[in-house]
Amino acid sequence: MTDQDAVAGLLGGLTLDQKAALCLGSDFWHTAPVPAAGIEPVMLSDGPHGLRKQPDRADHAGIGGSVPATCFPTASALACSWDPGLAREVGAALGAEARAQDIAVVLGPGVNIKRSPLCGRNFEYLSEDPFLAGRLAAGLVDGLQSQQVGACVKHFAANNQETDRLRVSADVDERTLREIYLPAFEHVVTAARPWSVMCAYNKINGEYASQHRWLLTEVLRDEWGFDGLVMSDWGAVHDRVAALAAGLDLEMPPDLGFSDRAIVAAVTAGRLAEAVLDQAVSRVLRLVLRARARRPADPDPRAHHALARRAAAESLVLLKNDGGVLPLPDAPGLTVAVLGEFARAPRFQGAGSSQVSPTQVDVPLDELARALPSAALRFAPGFALGAGPEDPDRAEALAQEALRAAAGADVAVCFLGLPPDAESEGFDRVHIDLPAAQTSLLGRLAAEVPGTPVVVVLANGSAVRTSPWDRAAAAVLECWLAGQGAGGAIADVLSGAVSPSGRLAETIPRRLPDGPSYLNFPGEEGHVRYGEGVFVGYRGYDAAGLPVSYPFGHGLGYTTFGYSGLRVSQAGSAAGGDLAITVAAEIRNTGRRAGQEVVQCYAGAPAASVARPPRELKGFTKITLEPGAAREVRFTLTARDLSYWSVRREGWVLEPGEFRIDVGASSRDIRLSQVIEVSAPPLRPVLSGLATLEEWLADAGGGPALRAAIGTGPDGRPRGILGNPELLKIIGNFPLSTLAAFPGLGVTHDIVRTLAGGGPPDG
Ligand code: BGC
Repeated sequence: MTDQDAVAGLLGGLTLDQKAALCLGSDFWHTAPVPAAGIEPVMLSDGPHGLRKQPDRADHAGIGGSVPATCFPTASALACSWDPGLAREVGAALGAEARAQDIAVVLGPGVNIKRSPLCGRNFEYLSEDPFLAGRLAAGLVDGLQSQQVGACVKHFAANNQETDRLRVSADVDERTLREIYLPAFEHVVTAARPWSVMCAYNKINGEYASQHRWLLTEVLRDEWGFDGLVMSDWGAVHDRVAALAAGLDLEMPPDLGFSDRAIVAAVTAGRLAEAVLDQAVSRVLRLVLRARARRPADPDPRAHHALARRAAAESLVLLKNDGGVLPLPDAPGLTVAVLGEFARAPRFQGAGSSQVSPTQVDVPLDELARALPSAALRFAPGFALGAGPEDPDRAEALAQEALRAAAGADVAVCFLGLPPDAESEGFDRVHIDLPAAQTSLLGRLAAEVPGTPVVVVLANGSAVRTSPWDRAAAAVLECWLAGQGAGGAIADVLSGAVSPSGRLAETIPRRLPDGPSYLNFPGEEGHVRYGEGVFVGYRGYDAAGLPVSYPFGHGLGYTTFGYSGLRVSQAGSAAGGDLAITVAAEIRNTGRRAGQEVVQCYAGAPAASVARPPRELKGFTKITLEPGAAREVRFTLTARDLSYWSVRREGWVLEPGEFRIDVGASSRDIRLSQVIEVSAPPLRPVLSGLATLEEWLADAGGGPALRAAIGTGPDGRPRGILGNPELLKIIGNFPLSTLAAFPGLGVTHDIVRTLAGGGPPDG
């Protein structure tokens, strides 16, 4: 029997009340059982970076703890691996742990775009770029579902801030939605076929995501072919019947005795077609059957910890490394001052619904001692962590102790970062700075112990500003919140056991006000206007020509790479729907150590008729090369990769003409570039009465027809406005139907009717 038959069989035996009940959970984490029909409840559980299975009582915020699980790097860290294969491995491990705990669906990954560095939940999101976010999320989903555990891709859509997140309307134009905020979801849905999608809390253009029919049905199902279940974010439903009609199958947690009754009443009164209810119930039943069909798992926590450590190591981003201060040599007599409370009390994960109870935690100080057995380590906490103002005498004593530890040391490794209360689900940040005690310690190290080079190791979920202090550091290693293996991974990278290979998945701005969304974040009076449009992240910094501290895609390793031999070739055609642009280049390891390079392919449309970002990521690949070795990398771009979303034409539009293909090591380290000419059917204006005179004249068919209709005078010169170039300049951008009302121009209502089609001119 197929799943479909089994679902139909179960559905046929259910009463209206039972069907309504199945569209809500039965408690905070379970779907509803129907014992009489043999339908058991299945469990849903956070979260994307490690399982957060809450034992009995649910508290939502994770305060009550959860069963031990491997804490993998958070999304902001893992994204910097630029490695969908690694994301798949992490997803599979997470899936195995979920299966062992009898979890049907893991509530993740979160693929919302980092619109502003202030978003409190940026640690849970992958990137400012939809292409990168989509590829990595597809890897995670694929891995998770390889264990017969469903993914739940969230939060659909435009949930890019925490301020007023349950009510705010994200006011965003369709082009921006299509080009920036939807493609990561689109890619995951079409490439990895997640079992479920979670709607966002917020409104999109005035309508709650939970009852947004265009989003949940027309785009998600009709356009992208999604065949899974849509569930609400926890508490996102406001009108259960409207949500059901819009395409929301499951309400979580259930509003028992209210939502179910509302559904029954709506069906009974004929306000909701029972077929709509049946469809939602079928999707819930399919999920139950999918979860039923699997075998138990028995994952090895030690192997998963090793994976967490490897994943962390792949995700760390070496932002700078002046004079090759890293890697640290393990030499007898080498003295390393290890400063900062985070060295012994690491911050490796975020708070809220993705908070995990880790199976074990690597402590950086211990791991560093293990990685550099011949070196002498001197530890000093340097500053205190925690909320509230610090006692100034204590702060000074801590700083003095750190300065003493650094004096005479060969190098000082400073573990800095955001304290846990600085960022979380539920609120946004108001600045992007490190705590003052930490930056002041750095300043004093530079001024008072100038002979000791400083290596900064950062722990933060969302981007922090480095521009006020990074001149005081010889090296900066950005670790994000890299999970329970972060401590080991940091030691591996600092000691050179692993060459760093992470690349930034988001821009590190010099100043917060430089950010494209700065003036429109987080909105007011219930609305946030996405005024920067498609110019999000590097797209905006590049378009404005603004300097940044570290650009999107940036990251150093312990070797160097040369790029050569760019070749761009085209096959197929845009008209035929099979245009394929192949980009090939040769990459060589020109240094003395093996290393990994993330080769990035960007496209730009310098001649576009609409405003477009100077370059957008369209391909990437992470390769490993031994010293001296070379390899060819290839990317294939399609027409869609070069297209923009046209609001007027309600679709993707590829304009014929010039495009620039860039291949490089970051969005601002372009090593190879080529301009190509792409042919595509010419864009013809929609010639209605509301098309302007200029648009008519520029059209290959419309121009001659209009000229002929207006005709020539006895002297052979064009009549009316066509014989008056000065006037044409001034009112050429008037719609044809408007000009018909003006005397003496030669454009008449009859001409407009004949050329623009029957009936009154309507545009
Ligand atoms: C969060 C979701 C999470 C859910 C369940 C919500 O507040 O937005 O991401 O999955 O709670 O904990």
